Amino acid sequence: MISIKSSREIELMRETCTLATRTMEYIEPFIKPGVSTEELNKLCHDYIIENGAYPSPLNYHGFPKSICTSRNEIICHGIPSKKDILEDGDILNIDITTYLKKFHGDTNKTFFVGEVSPEVKKLVEVTYMCMREGINQVKPGGHIGDIGAVIEEIAHDHGYSVVEEYCGHGIGREFHEEPQVVHVGKRGAGPEIKPGMTFTIEPMINLGKRHCKVLKDGWTVITKDKKWSAQFEHTILVTETGHEILTLRSDEEKIFKL
Ligand code: MF3
Ligand code: CO
Ligand code: CO
Repeated sequence: MISIKSSREIELMRETCTLATRTMEYIEPFIKPGVSTEELNKLCHDYIIENGAYPSPLNYHGFPKSICTSRNEIICHGIPSKKDILEDGDILNIDITTYLKKFHGDTNKTFFVGEVSPEVKKLVEVTYMCMREGINQVKPGGHIGDIGAVIEEIAHDHGYSVVEEYCGHGIGREFHEEPQVVHVGKRGAGPEIKPGMTFTIEPMINLGKRHCKVLKDGWTVITKDKKWSAQFEHTILVTETGHEILTLRSDEEKIFKL
């Protein structure tokens, strides 16, 4: 069952999503060569707690930390560690989910660490475009499959591949609700999009092949060919006329009007 949020529930979704967004804006200046992903985890954890919320990943199915930090060939679910130290030229995805007043808000962003290669910069830019165009499909009467169809088309046009094992998801009182929002597919497929739905769109796009594997820690997902992977994620509300991005940062407002 796909939950339709009431206006009160939508207000609470706005609140938790705003906190997730602020946490992302707060952590940005700390992302530099020499910093460990554990330090970034601690800063985000403390910020979320100080704001009266709980970091949804912590203890979620046993996940040991408060955010996910996925560097270079890590696709998603990277575990912050003291030993994981950022280097110039890396890309780092930070995935933040907050639990505030019984609602979850989920967002992620891939950051550049210092100066990255042109090849990697393009991967990150195209991944952002995939998310943005996927979001632009969201309106009542459309279908969840419309989202994956455009994402797949853009990624393939650039010679990249799309991860299929992990996907976007409904979100609200639960971290992961129905529907599954896969990032490939056919226009018109899947459930109909209706006002009051809230779900994430979070494409993972690879420079090489789409295949992935999970490391022995049981969480970290990497590309099989070890080529790099990028991701962006927003939580979206379906409105009567289209959609609202509940986790939009101030640096993005102009990009979405392009
Ligand atoms: N935030 C991730 C998502 O976008 C899920 C992380 S689950 C965790 O759905 F356990 F790894 F934190
Ligand atoms: Co998510
Ligand atoms: Co997330």
